[in-house]
Amino acid sequence: MEKTLAILKPDCVRKNLIGDVIKMISDAGFVIRGMRMVRLTPDTAGGFYEVHRDRPFFNDLVMFMSSGTCVPIVLEKENAVADFRTLIGATDPREAAENTVRKRYADSKGENIIHGSDSAENALTEIAYFFAGRDLINPV
Ligand code: CMP
Repeated sequence: MEKTLAILKPDCVRKNLIGDVIKMISDAGFVIRGMRMVRLTPDTAGGFYEVHRDRPFFNDLVMFMSSGTCVPIVLEKENAVADFRTLIGATDPREAAENTVRKRYADSKGENIIHGSDSAENALTEIAYFFAGRDLINPV
């Protein structure tokens, strides 16, 4: 089984879409192993997106991610990382496939509802950013 980290972003929470998006995630066969509501600061948002620090959109990204509540969720499934990226769709909702989370709900590349880890290795680093091991639910 593989894990990935999802983050429901502040636009998802503001639009009251937490339930709808979690339903799409569950229906796609992912099991929720951990979930929190958090308010990031510009510093903690910047730490999470450290790899993007030199990109032109970094400042906007950090301001947006610290503008409201986020919901990080640990998900488990076979092939979780790739399957989750398929489920959420392209970064830019205009390029996202039909029936993906971003196609359905996102407004723009910057405000795109949801994050998904881009590799199994990064997923473990990202999970550790939000969850201590003891917070995760182990398989029964
Ligand atoms: P996410 O999957 O969370 O990873 C990095 C985020 O940067 C990405 O989703 C987008 O929301 C955000 N972003 C904002 N502008 C851009 C851009 N021009 N190119 C790529 N990502 C961007």
